[in-house]
Amino acid sequence: MFFCINGRFVRQSKAMVSVLDRGFLYADGFYDTLRIYDGGIFKLPLHLSRIEATAKALEIRLPCSLKKIGELLLETVKRNKLGEARVRITVTRAEKKPTFVITCEALKKSGKPKMLSACTMRFQRIQPEFKTLGGLAVLLPALREAKKRGCDEMIGLDQNGFVREAATSNVFVVRQDTLFTPKSGMLPGLTRSLVVQAAQKLGLEVDVKDFKISVLCSADEIFLTNRVREIIPIVRLNGNKVGKGTLGPVTGRLMEEYREYVEQEVEDAILDSLATARESGKKSKYLSHDDVWK
Ligand SMILES: Cc1ncc(COP(=O)(O)O)c(C=O)c1O
Repeated sequence: MFFCINGRFVRQSKAMVSVLDRGFLYADGFYDTLRIYDGGIFKLPLHLSRIEATAKALEIRLPCSLKKIGELLLETVKRNKLGEARVRITVTRAEKKPTFVITCEALKKSGKPKMLSACTMRFQRIQPEFKTLGGLAVLLPALREAKKRGCDEMIGLDQNGFVREAATSNVFVVRQDTLFTPKSGMLPGLTRSLVVQAAQKLGLEVDVKDFKISVLCSADEIFLTNRVREIIPIVRLNGNKVGKGTLGPVTGRLMEEYREYVEQEVEDAILDSLATARESGKKSKYLSHDDVWK
């Protein structure tokens, strides 16, 4: 694989950052994860907006324009001939220019959905509305704890028992034909907002509000959402069945709707990527370092 380090594409084995980098020393930075379908970046503009908003909130100056970041992301997909993949952008604070890294990983085409189990635990990130590197210090131990308890996922509760977020995903509950998802204290995930739209399109009642663990425990269905894994059905919670302990009808319909949406968007994303690549590729096959890193 070729990774992008501060605007330069290098082989994975040569991709390195300084040991004095503040991300390495203090987890002082943020990241974003994008999903690639059939060689197209899904909803690139939304990710660029989130990157911009996060950098602004954390007062980290981006090293180049958002347009250039978009071009580098497209270039990463192109150089690595990615079909189904995840691409991660990491930005850390630095004295002069931030360290800016793009890494990627090929994924298998999503097959049959897995029915997963989850348990609940008290955990809460500082600045939960952003994907901070520091936040991972809370999320990853929560996930490890889930595995120790024989579960796949961990759902986080705050100190007052309100459901906030799962480790790396948003939480949805279906109860008596209404879809609930927490309103605050979590990352407003991009998949979450698409799922809310999909649910509204299907005529479901959607209630975006904070709720306690009692709602979670009396759910007919529970699912989690994130960009890479889309909609993740949770069929066991703290060792008990959720509903019938199988894929619920609402979750199933939303999964289908989301898939259809992705397929439709993929076509557009491929066309967009091709247009951008064609435009920037007029001068050379690949973008040069100077082109993207002024
Ligand atoms: C803590 C947390 N919540 C929610 C999400 C889902 O966000 P998105 O749908 O934008 O991937 C993520 C994604 O990594 C996450 O880390």
